[in-house]
Amino acid sequence: MKWLLSRQKLRAPALLALTFTVTACSQPPATPAAQTPDTAAAARAVWPQLKVPAADAALELKINSLLAEMTLAQKVAQVIQPDIRWMSVADMRQYGFGSYLNGGGAYPNDNKQASAADWAALADAYTKAAIDASLDGSTIPPLWGTDAVHGHNNVYGATIFPHNIGLGAANNATLVEAIGKATATEVAATGIDWLFAPTVAVARDDRWGRSYESYSEDPAIVRSLGAALVRGIQGEPATLPKTRIATAKHYLGDGGTDAGKDQGNNSLSEAELVRLHAQGYFSAIEAGVQTVMASFNSWQGQKMHGSQYLLTDVLKNRLGFDGIVVGDWNGHGQLPGCSNQHCAAAFNAGVDILMVPEDWKALYQNTIADIESGAIPQARLDDAVRRILRVKFRAGLFQQDPGRQAYKGQQQWIGHADHQALAAQAVRESLVLLKNNRRLLPLAPQQRVLVAGDGADNIGKQSGGWTVTWQGTGTQNSDFPQGSSILTGIRQQVEAGGGSVTYSADGSFSPAQKPDLAIVVIGENPYAEFDGDITTLDYQSGSNADEQLLRRLKAAGIQVVTVFLSGRPLWVNPELNLSDAFVAAWLPGSAGQAVAEVLFQTPDSKVQYDFKGKLPFSWPRQADQSPLNSGDAAYQPLFALGYGLSYSSQDATQDIAADLPEQVAQQAKATTQRSLLERRPAAGLTLQLQDPKGTVAVSGNKAASPSQQLQLQAVNWQKQEDALQLQWQGDASLVLHSSEALDISAYGQLVFDLKWQTAPPAPLLLSMSCGSGCGGTVNLNPLLTQKAAGQWHKLVIDLQCLANAGVALNHLYQPFMLQSSGNTALTLSNIRLTPATATADLSCPGV
Ligand code: BGC
Ligand code: BGC
Repeated sequence: MKWLLSRQKLRAPALLALTFTVTACSQPPATPAAQTPDTAAAARAVWPQLKVPAADAALELKINSLLAEMTLAQKVAQVIQPDIRWMSVADMRQYGFGSYLNGGGAYPNDNKQASAADWAALADAYTKAAIDASLDGSTIPPLWGTDAVHGHNNVYGATIFPHNIGLGAANNATLVEAIGKATATEVAATGIDWLFAPTVAVARDDRWGRSYESYSEDPAIVRSLGAALVRGIQGEPATLPKTRIATAKHYLGDGGTDAGKDQGNNSLSEAELVRLHAQGYFSAIEAGVQTVMASFNSWQGQKMHGSQYLLTDVLKNRLGFDGIVVGDWNGHGQLPGCSNQHCAAAFNAGVDILMVPEDWKALYQNTIADIESGAIPQARLDDAVRRILRVKFRAGLFQQDPGRQAYKGQQQWIGHADHQALAAQAVRESLVLLKNNRRLLPLAPQQRVLVAGDGADNIGKQSGGWTVTWQGTGTQNSDFPQGSSILTGIRQQVEAGGGSVTYSADGSFSPAQKPDLAIVVIGENPYAEFDGDITTLDYQSGSNADEQLLRRLKAAGIQVVTVFLSGRPLWVNPELNLSDAFVAAWLPGSAGQAVAEVLFQTPDSKVQYDFKGKLPFSWPRQADQSPLNSGDAAYQPLFALGYGLSYSSQDATQDIAADLPEQVAQQAKATTQRSLLERRPAAGLTLQLQDPKGTVAVSGNKAASPSQQLQLQAVNWQKQEDALQLQWQGDASLVLHSSEALDISAYGQLVFDLKWQTAPPAPLLLSMSCGSGCGGTVNLNPLLTQKAAGQWHKLVIDLQCLANAGVALNHLYQPFMLQSSGNTALTLSNIRLTPATATADLSCPGV
């Protein structure tokens, strides 16, 4: 049952006292392989015949003769892909791996500010080690792969382009091709060969944390722009030796999982899979893409890494893809019966390169053993190695083509002015004008402009995930020497026109200096992959600080232009109502100044650039309206796919009513309790002990954190071993961890039983974490000092207290963390969630 309530009123998240980490996402065991149609004829009916070039006979001969000389160990080394954080140059010399990657946030020597020369030096060192035959007898050069997904985003000073969702709004294939070329040039400057881009996902449920990596919900846009990026990165097939290698990912159906769950299950029919999710692969393959990355998601219950039907029968045999299928980050380890260290099934299904960042040594040895035992057929290994060699020959790796080295180590290409101009163009074209009442925009620069919102001077926030770090969190403007915040651009425009700018993030101003107008830049904080999964499209479901900011400006009679940064459309009716003009800016990247070039006219009242962007995704009318896609039987978006005002269009004269409904359909409140830990953690949760040295998962009835700062022992209270005795001897935490985001917003209170010998000398902190940079903490000491030591107490904490401290209750990875330091001794039992019925020991009214 649902009923309507006003959006929760909560305070802005407080600064966190703790650093939250989300440990790697482990998957529930996949269901047994679905029966796939086993005849090629079944595939033929729904899969098209693509235009792919016939095999190059001379090249195939070269490949065959090289293959004939290779040993088993050399062949297996070609199919193993470690990460630079776990594989040294000496390892490369010893094993001669065929490829390696730097995952998000991995840099040479762990130096975030590494220069083009540093990157190139590391590439050279690995290449030299790989072609050094002294230990492994192999002289085959390796490929280095990187997630250059919106520019060369792991590299200091690189041009950061808008994420794909913004490029989908611009929908300009020529522009995307140019971006591909510019990005490939910056990648070439670092000596890297291979880009794990484009993502050709068609995101169909915007709760998915990777929606922004998708150009559009419309497969036709993805089909066109995906191929354009491939052409930009690789050039025409004949130019490959001088260009870079592209990847179409994640094959197949990642954007169509149930409820938008990252790595989840896509349950569509095969015909729908083809119609909606395969279009980008068709065009990318026809554009000559050399690699395809297998996806973490399942189709009809079977993980893609194990789908021989879709990887081999369809992709390789039917569609004629003759390049490399690369696995995703330990994706093989998620197959039933597999681990990161050992997996024949993914390889047998058709994955040619196993991405195994850390556990490469065991996987390498186990894969050799699997060939020897016949668990992996020799012919399958030969096919994989043939594909790898084919791509390496085509890319000019063996020929030492001078064109390939052209930009290597040359810093001037990183963040080159031409690339930045392109990024600025992309930003301008990607902005979608949703509302412009009384034609407030374009703005005259001769005004007193107040700039507010936490996105105004925050290049990290405007760039999103996959920027400098994997999650895009933890950056500062100084991490972007090439970049410009949106504020900087507004200053340039206004000051050049003789106006003035005041910046205050919270929108305050002195009454004597009332601004003529405010520009408020707000939106989502960075996230990547599953960390970005949400359960509601309500923008401010956890806190409505931005709504309050807008409300204050409105009350002061100030006209407001809202610039909204987000990786997807979100339900923002309250913010829309409070704004006179509203711009969806997506995640524009480092060229923030370009936003102001569209908002402001010249001092002599000429439009500089009109709005061109059109919605690449349908905009929701209600917070629970997902999935929402053009073509739905009952399609009732607030703004339809393709919507976008411009200064010149007729419809721009139409004002949007300022009374869009602000009620949110809220989940029914829980009526029963839910246990988080009762002797054992509840299903889906693991109990961990953490200290500065690392994390230990508790399995038995006794455990210690890695450097012994927290000891745990199960003891008897009301039943046998129903309580945990905890002894701290330094900074450490007890953590309940969930690999999937938990939504506990239907509950009112957190309850647990606790006994303490003496009130803890050091603060005892209770926290919850909702992913990187998201969480909140309350100090329990004041509560403990009010109650008697040496006996059991049932402690009741209003969940609102944690929400007020910044916890998004609908998106928890650590629903319970107890941290202390020093010499604290406690006994803990029965951690549970309850409806808000008891009198709370720690109560917090909603704000
Ligand atoms: C992502 C891929 C990415 C890979 C390497 C994975 O978790 O799904 O998109 O290419 O990591 O960083
Ligand atoms: C790594 C990133 C990587 C990501 C892929 C993270 O744990 O730090 O480098 O890209 O996993 O999922």
